[in-house]
Amino acid sequence: MNELDLMTKIVSLCKRRGFVFQSSEIYGGLKSAYDYGPLGVELKRNIAAAWWRAMVYERDDIVGLDASIVMHPKVWETSGHVSGFSDPLVDCLNCKERFRGDKAPAMTPGTEVVYIKGGKDKGEKIKGTVNARGYVCPVCGSSELSEERQFNGMFRTILGPVDPMDEFFREIKGKDLSEKEMKGIYENITKNSQVYLRPETAQAMFVQFLNVQQTTSMKVPFGIAQQGKSFRNEITVEHFIFRSCEFEQMEMEFFIEPGTQGEWLKYWTENRMAWYAKYANSPQNFRLRQHDRDELAHYSDDCYDVEYLYPWGWGELEGVASRTDYDLKRHGAATGVKLSYFDQNKVDPETGKTGWRYVPYVIEPAAGLTRTLLALILDAYTEEKGVDAEGKEKSRVFLKLHPSIAPIKAAILPLVKKDGQPEKATAIAKTLREAGINVSYDEQQSIGKRYAKHDEVGTPFCITVDPDTMKDDTVTVRYRDTAEQRRMPIAEAIEVVIQSARHPL
Ligand code: GAP
Repeated sequence: MNELDLMTKIVSLCKRRGFVFQSSEIYGGLKSAYDYGPLGVELKRNIAAAWWRAMVYERDDIVGLDASIVMHPKVWETSGHVSGFSDPLVDCLNCKERFRGDKAPAMTPGTEVVYIKGGKDKGEKIKGTVNARGYVCPVCGSSELSEERQFNGMFRTILGPVDPMDEFFREIKGKDLSEKEMKGIYENITKNSQVYLRPETAQAMFVQFLNVQQTTSMKVPFGIAQQGKSFRNEITVEHFIFRSCEFEQMEMEFFIEPGTQGEWLKYWTENRMAWYAKYANSPQNFRLRQHDRDELAHYSDDCYDVEYLYPWGWGELEGVASRTDYDLKRHGAATGVKLSYFDQNKVDPETGKTGWRYVPYVIEPAAGLTRTLLALILDAYTEEKGVDAEGKEKSRVFLKLHPSIAPIKAAILPLVKKDGQPEKATAIAKTLREAGINVSYDEQQSIGKRYAKHDEVGTPFCITVDPDTMKDDTVTVRYRDTAEQRRMPIAEAIEVVIQSARHPL
């Protein structure tokens, strides 16, 4: 299969079956945002639950946090996001595409390029030369580009009921002001009400370090985990939900003793790779890539990306960064609050005395929830060629999702809508629902069509109620991955579904 065809098939399946819809579709859609439909929300919640389980429930050294999306604006000044969370924005002067200079196709400065006027398919050919910045327009290949402007990726908004524009217009009315002067007035008016939507969940875990540590008496090493929405005004949104402006993250800040970051970074990279391997069918499509020194963020002394082999090539799925003591030190200095930890048993390396107060170092596994959902759907998508009973070629599509994250764990299907079969099937569905298992009762269409539909949405089992069920309380269980069918008592079928829905240890 052509790799980009795969992406087209995934986007189509996601819409057709109710996993992911374009936001505000009936209004023409919003390019940078997506809505998770009835099956998408289940899959997303199940992946989030799997992460939470591995990070919080299965260990006693990590606790959770659910912080607000809007935080004090000084948080983002201190963290470096106000001054540094910027991308180089460039306009193509030929086709008008707006893109990130650092992500554009690289070309040696001085190379001659040919592109079509206006970025059209056909028309006048223009010759150009790649300038000293060494890239061309990613859409039309033109070298006619604007200067780079730094564009801050945070969404700004105003907190409070007063529209600052009214005051702004009152201030500038009748005055002959330069653009810079007007900007200054606007910044001054909004400086006390301007807030940001968080671009990462991480900062709240630094800002609440003391509250969490003191209320739980956690001892270093320990971690704080958080999941939730983050917002970035991305210049380029791409590859469906891979890069969007509103997305979800699953981040954990693990606070450690200074000097132990090497061993903990190794521990967390291995831990995270093992987590993906539990849910993936093709673990070879997940790899670790260490950042080059010049790639490291200003706060980091080492970092690995967990990368996935997407249809367009290897790309980031999660970052596992050694963040040093940068954030706690910065927030401590900005607020005057000592964000430190006292270990009464450790010897202070400076004084040589027992009892050491230090600012913990941090290892941060930072995953994208919505990006993991895309990677796991890609990993699960399977097309199988075969022949039907009449010898005709047919292909079967199924999502080989791990049963613990599959949106629907079992479909309960009466063969016909009569003879007591619907009542029997409803009773099986009720038993499974009462056990906390999400199932679907489905009596529409032929049995073959129902199987095909449930294959495509990744339902691991179809339980069919037929005339024999009415006589001996047995059902047919069809296994998604093999299409094999087995006859068994209802009680055993229920147990198969319950056991398989457990998360892998
Ligand atoms: N606190 C560190 C941090 O936020 P990051 O590498 O910028 O690090 C972590 O983000 C993860 O969040 C990424 O590996 C990716 O999975 C996800 N992510 C980041 N930006 C995203 C976007 N615009 N759309 C979807 N997911 C995104």
